[in-house]
Amino acid sequence: MKVIKNKSECRKIVETLKSGGNTVGLVPTMGSLHEGHIALIRMARKECSRIFISIFVNPSQFGPGEDYVKYPRETKKDLGLAESEGVDFVFLPPVSGMYGNNHRTFVEVEGLGKIMCGVSRPTHFRGVATVVLKLFNIIPAHRAYFGEKDYQQLVIIKKMVKDLDIDIKITSSPTIRESDGLAMSSRNRYLTQEQRKEAVIIYKTLKWARREIKSGEKDLKKLRAVAELKILENRNIGTVEYFDFRDAYTLEEVSFPPVHRKMLIAAAVRAGTTRLIDNIVINVKK
Ligand code: PAJ
Repeated sequence: MKVIKNKSECRKIVETLKSGGNTVGLVPTMGSLHEGHIALIRMARKECSRIFISIFVNPSQFGPGEDYVKYPRETKKDLGLAESEGVDFVFLPPVSGMYGNNHRTFVEVEGLGKIMCGVSRPTHFRGVATVVLKLFNIIPAHRAYFGEKDYQQLVIIKKMVKDLDIDIKITSSPTIRESDGLAMSSRNRYLTQEQRKEAVIIYKTLKWARREIKSGEKDLKKLRAVAELKILENRNIGTVEYFDFRDAYTLEEVSFPPVHRKMLIAAAVRAGTTRLIDNIVINVKK
């Protein structure tokens, strides 16, 4: 496994690999690798002959007062894990290598970045889209892999790739969960013991809403209200930022469960200062 810090070296390697007939895969991450990241790496490993991961805690996707400084950084452990998972190349740039002093260009996927998580994090998705496009330019892989855990991010990246004619196939992998159902996340470690125990209510409530809809409930307003109450019964969860029913492709809000079209049920809550997100996608049949 080779660790690369330099952008132009990365690009050269990808060119050489491509001209040698390899299929190149990329898994962008912010490090602190867990089973969710590993699932993406394994998927890439299966489909590509050479794989890159990037490890970069991207400052432009954190808002003022967010957890950029305290975000976990465990490079040594991550490199060990990557090596044992058969990763060929790790792109590990310093912040100054990614953003020059006078960086002024940002990618905004209009509309999609201002709803759901974009309401409380208004500059988050432009930071994500910008760094992902930069990564695609530095590592012009054939395929790139993203998790459905960050569903809005996935939709935004797919839209950016389509709108800007980027020649990369985006593949997604399902959310990997702890044994009690909590979606794995680098931020779970911020939770106190009590918050951690109660955090499972997010997935439980998403599943409850899915059951209700599958058994014929059409009143999504009512479902949302009850879902919020169920979550807030847990004393260590202070706020439900949203509990939304949306079209799984466009992220438009839906008022009735759409038939034969996938619907996203997505939630964001705060337990203390920690923000947790989760979602499930359902298909309502007649
Ligand atoms: P990060 O949170 O490190 O996640 C990297 C990738 O792993 C993302 O595609 C994310 O959706 C996926 N992932 C995280 N937790 C997962 C889980 N429990 N199950 C399945 N996949 C999971 O997402 C980012 O980094 C950044 O925004 C990034 C795209 C790297 C841009 O900076």
